[in-house]
Formats: sequence, structure tokens, C-alpha cells
Amino acid sequence: MRITGTLQVEVWRQADGESEGGFETHTVTGVSPETTVLELLDLLNEQMPEGMEPISYDDGCREGICGKCGVTVDGVAHGPQLNRASCQQQVAAFTDGERVRIEPLRAAAFPVKKDLSVDKKAALRTVVKAAGGPVGMKALTEAGCISCGACVAACPNGSGQLFVGSLLTELPPLAKDDDDRRTRSGKVLDAAEESFGPCSTLGDCTEVCPAGLPLENLSAVAREHLRRRRGSADG
Ligand code: SF4
Ligand code: FES
Repeated sequence: MRITGTLQVEVWRQADGESEGGFETHTVTGVSPETTVLELLDLLNEQMPEGMEPISYDDGCREGICGKCGVTVDGVAHGPQLNRASCQQQVAAFTDGERVRIEPLRAAAFPVKKDLSVDKKAALRTVVKAAGGPVGMKALTEAGCISCGACVAACPNGSGQLFVGSLLTELPPLAKDDDDRRTRSGKVLDAAEESFGPCSTLGDCTEVCPAGLPLENLSAVAREHLRRRRGSADG
């Protein structure tokens, strides 16, 4: 494993959602092979020239569990290491030893709040709420989804199908009966359509998902669409 030592970090700066953003380059020293992306940002802030504002970024458990973190590293949501949250991505595994580019998760549904920090909760919550808050949350927990939003950012269409499909995969046993299932899943499908783009089953989502959720979960979306159509035909 290479000792990186010093990195040139190109980092996205944006004062708020209304302002135009751009990259700023900083030299960061004291980087070790085990340094994670969030630790690199910590170092950057510690070494920020006097008078300059520290970088804002989303932070949480740093154990790949809470889903709060998430940045784009060298063009890949969370970072180039497969199926790892940004807090678990180690810099030495993917940098060329000289340069790394860090920007926010990029998705139309995730507006930038400041610098690297985005609002991903609003869009994701709309879908969870549509399933009936606690039931939606339980379904996601059962599926193993940590609501990090990387699948949306990785998708060229900004589709949230891996997230939505994972929720719908676990929804049926949580519904009271068939009608309840159809109502809840119908609302989820509507909310997803409103918040996210269409799915082209490219599979980029599965490469970034820290929970390693499979592409097969997408089939739950098609299945619930079909059930809804059949339900209205029967009704
Ligand atoms: S499906 Fe995977 S990538 Fe998408 S929000 Fe859930 S954990 Fe994150
Ligand atoms: S900070 Fe919790 S998953 Fe990364």
C-alpha cells in the first residue's frame, strides 16, 4: 500500500443553494494510507488558511451505518471503492498520490445546502412517508437500506429505484391486507415518480450501495405497478 503523505484536493465550494459553486484546490499534508474521505476533509479543515471558512460536509456515525455521509469522489458517488459509504472509503486505495476531486452527491432531487452538504432527506422521506412513515422505515430497515441516497446520485437518470424497490420488497408482510398493500405501494410509486427519474436498469446503483442491495430489488417496483393496474381493472 502506498504512503500518500500529501494530496492535492480539489473540493467543491458553494455558499448556499442559490449561489454558483466551483472547485478550490488545497494541499493537504499528513494523509496516511488508512485516511478516509471524511478524515481527509477533517485534515483539510484543520489546515485551511486563516480567514477561510471550513468546508461543510455531511457527517455521522463514520461506521457505514447511519447513511448521513456522502460525497462524490473522482466522479463516483461515495467514492470508487465498491459498496462503501464515504466514511469507509480509504484515500490510499484510489488516489494517484497527487490529486483527488471531491464534490457533493449529484442528483436533481438532492439540492446543495452548502459546499459538500446536500439535502437528500427531503426526497427520500417523501417516499418513506408515502408508505406510512413507520411502516416505510421498518421496510427499509428490513431491507438493510441506510437511506444514504448514493443509488440516486450514481444513476445517470437520478432514479431512486434501488431505494424504492428495496422498500417495496419488504413492504408486503408489513401491510394489513391486500388492499392496504396496494394503497401503500401505490402512494410509494407516485412519490417516487415525483421525486426521481426513470430507471434504465443500468445497475450503477448496486456498485455504490453500501448495503450491497441487489438489482433484483428493482423487480418489486414492476411487481407493484402490475398489482396496481390489476387492482384498478378488478375494481
Ligand atoms: S439502496 Fe443502497 S445506495 Fe440506495 S439509499 Fe439504500 S443503502 Fe443507499
Ligand atoms: S457517517 Fe454514517 S454511514 Fe457514513
